[in-house]
Amino acid sequence: MTFVSDSKAPSIALVGATGAVGHTLIELIETRRLRHNGVRLAASARSAGRQMEVDGRTCTVEDLEGFDFSDVDIAFFSAGTSVSEKWARPAAAQGALVIDNTNAFRMDPDTPLVVPQVNADVLTGRPASGIIANPNCSTIPLVRLLGTVEQRWGIRQVVVSTYQAASGQGQHGIEELQEGSELALHDPDAELPAERFSKPLAFNVVPFIDRLLDSGFTMEEQKMLQESRKILGLPHLDVTTTCVRVPVVNSHSEAVWVEAAAPVDRTELVDRLAALPEVTVHDRDVPGRFPTPLTAGNPDHVHVGRVRVAPHNPRGFWLWLVADNLRIGAALNAVQIAETVLDRGLL
Ligand SMILES: NC(=O)c1ccc[n+]([C@@H]2O[C@H](COP(=O)([O-])OP(=O)(O)OC[C@H]3O[C@@H](n4cnc5c(N)ncnc54)[C@H](OP(=O)(O)O)[C@@H]3O)[C@@H](O)[C@H]2O)c1
Repeated sequence: MTFVSDSKAPSIALVGATGAVGHTLIELIETRRLRHNGVRLAASARSAGRQMEVDGRTCTVEDLEGFDFSDVDIAFFSAGTSVSEKWARPAAAQGALVIDNTNAFRMDPDTPLVVPQVNADVLTGRPASGIIANPNCSTIPLVRLLGTVEQRWGIRQVVVSTYQAASGQGQHGIEELQEGSELALHDPDAELPAERFSKPLAFNVVPFIDRLLDSGFTMEEQKMLQESRKILGLPHLDVTTTCVRVPVVNSHSEAVWVEAAAPVDRTELVDRLAALPEVTVHDRDVPGRFPTPLTAGNPDHVHVGRVRVAPHNPRGFWLWLVADNLRIGAALNAVQIAETVLDRGLL
């Protein structure tokens, strides 16, 4: 694909361009043909000067220290929470609309937290903070399914166990899993690396993501509760989660139990889920079919299977979901926010 200059289109900056989410953003900007009048790339001093291709053009990565945002219209931030805490407000003050992939501003009252398929209606103008937050990678696919359940039956409680891929810890997370797997295959007694994860991930499962809170839950688990409430506009929604890292390279999975306020008919539930935008229900027509991270298919869909109403409690049902965390859980959602902003002329 070749870049065609469009002076009326926004100029874009990608902060964290060299990372796993940054690479995915570049791919999506190209394949979804996001209109732009040039893309600038930023990362740390480690990567400054590196050259990367965007839309057929060679771009040189700039050091974020000293980066001038005054001629940037949309700045995607994907360089970690502390980087966003330091640089997102200054970028917004220089006039850029920041779309932030980190945890820095998600619960800020002046910052909308947006999943376009669910709550695009909160995007009515430039936010007071100049920042739009992208939710956590496990929250996005979950809330994409819950809205229709709440509308039809009402939700009493949601219980989730996540099965989160190594790529959730970025490029270094993937490399640590690969390195640990190779070591363990050659020597079962080898000491395996555990820098990106709190325990070695190869041939293991680790029920601990992010930091421990006083409540005994992890930050990752708390994010799923708080963010689901904010996005769905349900401040008392009862969501409780165990977040688990698994030795999968990419795509998070979730086992979700929903207790509704009224009995649920499986056929109607499956039809409602399948009617949602960019959702594939694998066991709608073929009983027992289910998605996995390796076999789900279209990476831009939320994949659902194992939908089953509990015989002993027809208000309750389980489902299994799989979603690409780098796309649906991060870059695709961010690009879809930008597309919504541009479609609505909100810049
Ligand atoms: N991975 C996911 O599934 C996912 C999902 C949702 C949200 N997120 C969030 O997105 C962010 C990026 O994640 P990732 O998976 O892409 O991580 P990653 O692969 O580790 O990439 C991190 C990026 O941030 C840059 N960076 C690090 N420190 C910096 C600094 N001080 N100044 C400027 N740039 C700096 C790195 O640049 P260098 O090359 O210079 O080191 C790199 O481009 C994180 O906040 C993460 O929580 C990730």
